[in-house]
Amino acid sequence: MEFISIIMGSKSDWNIMQECVDVLKKFDCAFEVTISSAHRSPQRTKEYINEAQNRGACVFIAAAGMAAHLAGSIAAITTKPVIGVPLDSSSLNGLDSLLSTAQMPSGIPVATMAIGKSGAINAAYLAMQILALSNAELNGKLIEDRVIKSKKVELDSNEIEIRIV
Ligand code: RP5
Repeated sequence: MEFISIIMGSKSDWNIMQECVDVLKKFDCAFEVTISSAHRSPQRTKEYINEAQNRGACVFIAAAGMAAHLAGSIAAITTKPVIGVPLDSSSLNGLDSLLSTAQMPSGIPVATMAIGKSGAINAAYLAMQILALSNAELNGKLIEDRVIKSKKVELDSNEIEIRIV
């Protein structure tokens, strides 16, 4: 069975990455979460990626802070799409993680999201959009979600709109 794999560099990343998991749950999308570090457990990271691919992992979401090499090191191992979520874990407010995640050499891409919560949520959406290329049911749910979001903008606007007559 196909699933989305989420890898975090540390347990301290879980608080933000729960946002990603919540979105996948809302869409009934199969996923699993593990902790593995590019720096502290490189061997475990490599073994996990190879083993998860064999079980059906088809998109990897990698979240890390500081010198965030997790997504890049995963992209080096697999040709499955890798989505990187840079986290704000240091005094540099996540700019360190953003650059470490995004600035990949040519041929080894990482789709890099925004820093923190928005990035965690968008990682879930992008992973599902990739799966939806060959999953009509999921694609339908994503289209419906866009309609709901668009309607909410109108409702919010109606609530606060000030009209000058
Ligand atoms: C990164 O270092 C982790 O992804 C985390 O964001 C940051 C700090 O990790 P801890 O020291 O809290 O384990 O590798």
